[in-house]
Amino acid sequence: MKKDLTKMRDLTKAEIRDILYLADEMKAELKSGKEHHVLKGKTLAMIFQKASTRTRVSFEVGMYQLGGHALYLSANDLQMGRGEPIEDTARTLSRYVDGIMIRTFAQEEVENLALYSSVPVINGLTDYAHPCQVLADLMTIRERKGKLDGVNLSYIGDGNNMCNSLIVGCLTCGMNVSVAVPEGYDPHPAVLDFAKDYPQAFKLLRKPPEAVKDADVVVTDVWASMGQEAEAQARKEAFAGYQINKELMSAAKNDAIVLHCLPAKRGQEITADIFEAHAETIFTEAENRLHAQKAVLTLLMK
Ligand code: CP
Ligand code: NVA
Repeated sequence: MKKDLTKMRDLTKAEIRDILYLADEMKAELKSGKEHHVLKGKTLAMIFQKASTRTRVSFEVGMYQLGGHALYLSANDLQMGRGEPIEDTARTLSRYVDGIMIRTFAQEEVENLALYSSVPVINGLTDYAHPCQVLADLMTIRERKGKLDGVNLSYIGDGNNMCNSLIVGCLTCGMNVSVAVPEGYDPHPAVLDFAKDYPQAFKLLRKPPEAVKDADVVVTDVWASMGQEAEAQARKEAFAGYQINKELMSAAKNDAIVLHCLPAKRGQEITADIFEAHAETIFTEAENRLHAQKAVLTLLMK
């Protein structure tokens, strides 16, 4: 594996398989009460420039369960918040800790942090990518569908960080991906470029019912991501019709599952009834963040 996990493209199909295999094993061990202190004495620094419930708690608990320690660092409380360059933060933290997780805005910041850190850097969400979430999503799909190869995933909504990482992760794993996004909200050009290598497996569409046809997995995410609060009203208008509801789900396979990385806005990208009908899967997806990230931490930091 590469030194860092900055985006899904850093991982090959075989590496994703290794992560998911270890994640399944660690999940089973945790459930049976077996300890796995493989990162005893190791510390993970976690830099947050944006809010978080799942990422923060799952990384912190995960490090504890691996026998290590995690430090929560709010970017605003670091000298970074006063303008210390990311390159200097990287070289300083590398002298103290064994790994760095960062949630921030620009992907470039994560890439720079990785470039200047001598320890592994993990992307805990940028405007461009959310690889840890997608690993948990792939783990959940495999648990529910028994495989990834040939599974049909539809993503409805904003061509955002989740959409970008799902496209790359799912195509890499042999899945078929149909995306329905309104014009002007397409996935990142680099991701569309990547998808060109998968002409049979990838479709970029405008109409949600077309994208959801024959889906095994239907995914959505908020219409306004962190940092886009000022656009919320305009986005509500642009995304009307891009909602996962009963009618849309009738176009999917009967046994289709619904995933949502959370937090969810009921009444916007998903209706309350569909959310509750699929809550068991959605919160298992949230739980799987813990297991998938423990596998990543182990493979990068051990
Ligand atoms: N899905 C996700 O990353 O959740 P948080 O923003 O709560 O970390
Ligand atoms: N697209 C959302 C994901 C939150 C986990 C955001 O960036 O806010």
